[in-house]
Amino acid sequence: MEEHMRFAWAMIFCIAIAPVYADYYSNTVTPSSKVEKVTHLRFFLHDILGGENPGAVVIARANLTKKDDSVLPFGSLVAIDDPLRVGPEPTSKIIGNAQGLYLSSSQDPSKFTIVLYADFAFTSGKFNGSSFSVFSRNPVTEADREVAIVGGRGKFRMARGFAKIKTSYFNATTGDAILEYKVTLYHY
Ligand SMILES: *[C@@H]1O[C@H](CO)[C@@H](O)[C@H](O)[C@H]1NC(C)=O
Ligand SMILES: *[C@@H]1O[C@H](CO)[C@@H](O)[C@H](O)[C@H]1NC(C)=O
Ligand SMILES: *[C@@H]1O[C@H](CO)[C@@H](O)[C@H](O)[C@H]1NC(C)=O
Repeated sequence: MEEHMRFAWAMIFCIAIAPVYADYYSNTVTPSSKVEKVTHLRFFLHDILGGENPGAVVIARANLTKKDDSVLPFGSLVAIDDPLRVGPEPTSKIIGNAQGLYLSSSQDPSKFTIVLYADFAFTSGKFNGSSFSVFSRNPVTEADREVAIVGGRGKFRMARGFAKIKTSYFNATTGDAILEYKVTLYHY
């Protein structure tokens, strides 16, 4: 009898604390106002397709009917895990990495353009463990260009901003590039 009572009470307790899944949304409220901060970053992305240990690999390519002899013709999709370094030298200190994809997105081979979908994460310093996300068109052949930053994680949660990109080195034969990133990030 005692056992039954205990079981009954346990059941009641369980029902009482079970979460209620009535709505899939909360009340909409005004967030407590926090002051937005700005951080500037500067680093070099080393995008190396060749060699023993490439940071960028072609994972898909369209079967084009039109002749296109460029390294990454329209419709090529590249997976990247590229080191971010403090300088343009291949031996300079690594401070993070960019992981994601880029798609060769221009039908005109003379206007080589990519759309970049990547997460730039840091592995040292104040922003170790934080990252920002780029989702943007990147007209690679233009000397000065800009990509949009659409979000972030960790200290860069809710980030938005932009990165000015300059080509520090580019080899059209191999597709290897070293790019200077000057980033402006608005975050909390
Ligand atoms: C590529 O396209 C050509 C022309 O349409 C076709 O003959 C060929 O079989 C295709 N190759 C592959 C691997 O799909
Ligand atoms: C970065 O953070 C990771 C994980 O918290 C830690 O293991 C690592 O030692 C940190 N690196 C630096 C350089 O602070
Ligand atoms: C590009 O890479 C090729 C193959 O490694 C090399 O022969 C050539 O000299 C490089 N060109 C430039 C401008 O660095």
